Amino acid sequence: MLPNFFNSTTPQSNQQSPEPMNTETKPRKRIVVAITGATGAIMGIKTLLALRHLNIETHLILSKWGEATLKHETDYKPSALKALAAHTHSIHDMAAPISSGSFKADGMIIVPCSMKTLASINSGVCDDLISRTADVMLKERRRVVLVARETPLSEIHLRNMLGVTRAGAVVFPPVPAFYIRPASVEELVEQSVGRILDLFDLDTGGFERWGGKLCT
Ligand SMILES: Cc1cc2nc3c(=O)[nH]c(=O)nc-3n(C[C@H](O)[C@H](O)[C@H](O)COP(=O)(O)O)c2cc1C
Repeated sequence: MLPNFFNSTTPQSNQQSPEPMNTETKPRKRIVVAITGATGAIMGIKTLLALRHLNIETHLILSKWGEATLKHETDYKPSALKALAAHTHSIHDMAAPISSGSFKADGMIIVPCSMKTLASINSGVCDDLISRTADVMLKERRRVVLVARETPLSEIHLRNMLGVTRAGAVVFPPVPAFYIRPASVEELVEQSVGRILDLFDLDTGGFERWGGKLCT
């Protein structure tokens, strides 16, 4: 039986979202989560829910177009989204703690990541807190995962993906795994979020893993 902490993707049920697990003996991890204006705000919500369940200290940055897609695609108000994170930072606040390498953090997830933010990171243009924080994480050799969402991909997108990969980031397009035989879009999203958090050695336990048995 899989845990149901993922099932809190409406503001109402969010109020009953589970308490973080008791992990007193372990130092608390810190992860920056940025939500940008690519379609797929639900992936950002589910990432925050999963990290909350895992007792990770999250720092949320929401772009202007991330906020627009959140409102368009979900029932979440920005305030309800921000309540899922331990800390939130304005995208304009270039003096936020996370904009410095001296602030200890375990990494950053941009979910979903627009082609515009991908391009900003690849070019090194740090003109907002999302691209600045990603730049800092990369220079500090920390884990950066870009859930880059666009289709089809142009040569410009592909070049930017190669560029950030060479700089140390992981490009993780939210491509579904149909072998789990998903009963819903939610299950597909949960599988992707689970695989994203695998990259931080975090196990949501909230999705089916490939077990090696084909139905023949
Ligand atoms: C409904 C909607 C869906 C969008 N989906 C995508 C997308 O999937 N990928 C993408 O790169 N841009 C998408 N865009 C365009 C971005 O929002 C736009 O490029 C914006 O400037 C990104 O800025 P940001 O990265 O600061 O959020 C979408 C825009 C809207 C309004």
